[in-house]
Amino acid sequence: MNYPEFVKLVDVGPRDGLQNEKQTVPAAIKVGLVHRLQDAGLKHIEVTSFVSPKWVPQMADNAEVMAGLQRRSDVQYAVLTPNLKGFEAAVLTQPDEIVVFGAASEAFSQRNINCSIEESIERFREVVTAARAANIHVRGAISCTVGCPYEGEIAPASVAKVTGLMKDIGVQHVGVADTIGVGTPLKVQRAMEAALQHYDLNDVSGHFHDTYGQALANTLACLEMGVWQFDTSVAGLGGCPYAKGATGNVATEDVVYMLHGMGINTGIDLDGLIDAGQFISEHLGRPSGSRVARALLVKRSV
Ligand code: HMG
Ligand code: MG
Repeated sequence: MNYPEFVKLVDVGPRDGLQNEKQTVPAAIKVGLVHRLQDAGLKHIEVTSFVSPKWVPQMADNAEVMAGLQRRSDVQYAVLTPNLKGFEAAVLTQPDEIVVFGAASEAFSQRNINCSIEESIERFREVVTAARAANIHVRGAISCTVGCPYEGEIAPASVAKVTGLMKDIGVQHVGVADTIGVGTPLKVQRAMEAALQHYDLNDVSGHFHDTYGQALANTLACLEMGVWQFDTSVAGLGGCPYAKGATGNVATEDVVYMLHGMGINTGIDLDGLIDAGQFISEHLGRPSGSRVARALLVKRSV
């Protein structure tokens, strides 16, 4: 098996992780989390989203969080922008990358962003044009590529269709998301193959929620295909407000432990990452969702 030698991880914890929190997380804590992630060697961090504060109140402090960052020139800071209004607010905070987010499921598109897939592509078109003109990298996230909380199983053809539409409007990279974590390795490979009909292997990533405990296996299945970019979430934070019961993304700590154990480089310091996870878990008042963090914290304490 030819595994990649290097894997790029995007920590989406500050955004995907915290968007779903019941309690309000102060902007200073979010900033503290981003700083600890970059201290641990993360070079790609999804910081926040410029969405409606009525829909997702937890991200209402987006500009404050972006302004509070002590940026490093070797770190890329990404934000979600569902429409031109979101992009116009985001661009003032100078993100390195913006993310438009669509879905392979019509019902999820309606619930999450209040429009059909086709309408979403028209909204994204103007966002992508504006971002490319401003020299900002554009990533596309595709939700529900394996299963949908409203429609059930999703066919790879639906993934291929929306991926092709993203390609047509100039989205530079697509993330294949298993929003509700129902995927198993072969199904996730089929979804990824569908995205690869339109994008190069270097321009796709996996975004796997771990609701059913399949996310590490799904990550490995994609590594076997040569995919080398993944979104993960420190302490396994996360969920989606429009996918009830969905838990966090696969924990960054668990993926880093697996990759390093396979001799694959990530540039991330696992100890520093565990500190970042501890920082946010202590603030939230619950144990880390990462199995590796919990195991290593026990080891540290003896
Ligand atoms: P809408 O209500 O259809 O938008 O929402 P609208 O254009 O009709 O505007 C309605 C109101 O919202 C207006 O304000 C607008 O100004 C305001 P009012 O006049 O009523 O006071 N508005 C905005 N305010 C701030 N920022 C904006 C913005 N746009 C409009 N960008 C919208 C459409 C997309 C905005 C809404 O549905 C929304 O915010 N949805 C949030 C979706 C979301 O954040 N979901 C979670 C992230 S996606 C995710 O987690 C999945 C992912 O992790 C991958 C995976 O796991 O699947 C990426
Ligand atoms: Mg997600």
